[in-house]
Amino acid sequence: MDIFVDTADLDEIKEAESWGILDGVTTNPSLIKKAASSEQGEMNLEEHISEILRTVDGPVSLEVTAVDQQDMVDEAETLYDKFNEINDNVVVKIPVNTSMGKNDDDFEGVKAIKSLSETGIPVNCTLVMKPNQAIMAAKAGAEYVSPFLGRIDDHIRDQMGLKRGEDYPKGTYYPSEMVERVRNYHIQRRISERSPEDIIYKDEESMELFYWGNDDGVLSGVDMVWSIKNILDNYTFDTKIIAASIRTARQVRQCAEIGVEISTLPFSVIEDMMSHHKTSEGMKAFDDDVIPEYRSLLRD
Ligand code: E4P
Repeated sequence: MDIFVDTADLDEIKEAESWGILDGVTTNPSLIKKAASSEQGEMNLEEHISEILRTVDGPVSLEVTAVDQQDMVDEAETLYDKFNEINDNVVVKIPVNTSMGKNDDDFEGVKAIKSLSETGIPVNCTLVMKPNQAIMAAKAGAEYVSPFLGRIDDHIRDQMGLKRGEDYPKGTYYPSEMVERVRNYHIQRRISERSPEDIIYKDEESMELFYWGNDDGVLSGVDMVWSIKNILDNYTFDTKIIAASIRTARQVRQCAEIGVEISTLPFSVIEDMMSHHKTSEGMKAFDDDVIPEYRSLLRD
């Protein structure tokens, strides 16, 4: 599995690059804003982006800001023409659906992806929140699709009446397996008390249970990625998955178990992948046990 760092912070990118495990970078307007606000003095954004591209020998995603097909294509071409000559590693990020309200066109994103993939500009289709959107993006020719795991976990918890920040902090794992077990227990109990037909067709509370703890059948962000991986593997799409909006190292492990091609991670999650207190404890014990003869043998 390739590891991308999900940041526009140059210090983080350079540090991750120095570890020798970095395969690419993803940015978005919010991450650029964050990097600009933490920079001392005014940031030269063009130079900042150029430096990111020079630092990493792998795909760097840069997002468009427009919402109409032609404007997105124009911005993508500007980004590509301006920056790709630096290290030949620009990937343009296009939202799967740029609609922000009911009256907008839901298909501007896929139309832009289609046009860009025909001109050979690589596209990372972003803001993917359900498997059907990934199918559309793959059909339009996206080189990458980015399902947002963490935001789907937030959304499911939100529907369950749990508020981020109040009921759970941002970086916490959503235990969908446990939620599923609790839900099944309640469904089984109701079925044992009443007939299934009665429950499925007549009982509103039971129907609510069927939807509790999922988003249209998707049980969690990781489950969404699992579904997209299965779907793409069923066909001949060349589209690769970039598991995004990852909040915990446990989600990274699950993505690797699913076999996703790429995970894009906040810097802190990459750090978490390496630390374990038993490793530190074991290290200390080995260090304490080194006898001088052994140490000098190694240093001769
Ligand atoms: C992906 O490329 C996005 O930049 C990112 O993963 C979004 O993460 P967030 O939901 O933590 O903002």
